[in-house]
Amino acid sequence: MKKTILFSRETIEKTVSGLAERINTDYRDRPVVLVGILKGSFVFLADLIRKLDLDVTVDFVVLGSYGAGTTTSGEVKMLKDLSAPIEGKEVLVVEDIVDTGITLTYFMDILRRRRPKSLAICALIDKKARREVAIDVDYVGLEMEDGFIVGYGIDCNEQYRNLPEIWVVREEEGK
Ligand code: PRP
Repeated sequence: MKKTILFSRETIEKTVSGLAERINTDYRDRPVVLVGILKGSFVFLADLIRKLDLDVTVDFVVLGSYGAGTTTSGEVKMLKDLSAPIEGKEVLVVEDIVDTGITLTYFMDILRRRRPKSLAICALIDKKARREVAIDVDYVGLEMEDGFIVGYGIDCNEQYRNLPEIWVVREEEGK
């Protein structure tokens, strides 16, 4: 697979620190539940939470879109729900990448119906050009144009999540 580095370890580290600084300021004196969307967010969330100087707890959901490959099929399924209710809680959803916006739109609708006190989104990477459903992302780390990426939790057919950097893969050679 032909790939080149898009975001270095240093860039990622600085970005995560910047996001954590903003979240630390905004959530001061507000207990917050981080909700990680698995699998992609696990590396980002692990780095982010260690930079939060807050009253913070963590929960996870597993969401999947049908089909393998490089695109979202449009149908999202919850494979594992949260382990605790979020009614009355301050919830910050942590996502590795927002692409079409379909996954987050589906999930935020579910969360909203559970009546949290507040609901916000923190995404490491925003691929705005690919958006199909409008969605407000409160904390965005990095923006990128179209392109298929792997590393730092993000996969290609379940591989490469372990890479410490974020790499861009040439579509024609990445499958
Ligand atoms: C990726 C990513 C987001 C979603 C974004 O997950 O982690 O959850 O796609 O795409 P969208 O904005 O077009 O919906 P994926 O379905 O690849 O599963 P994974 O997190 O297990 O890698």
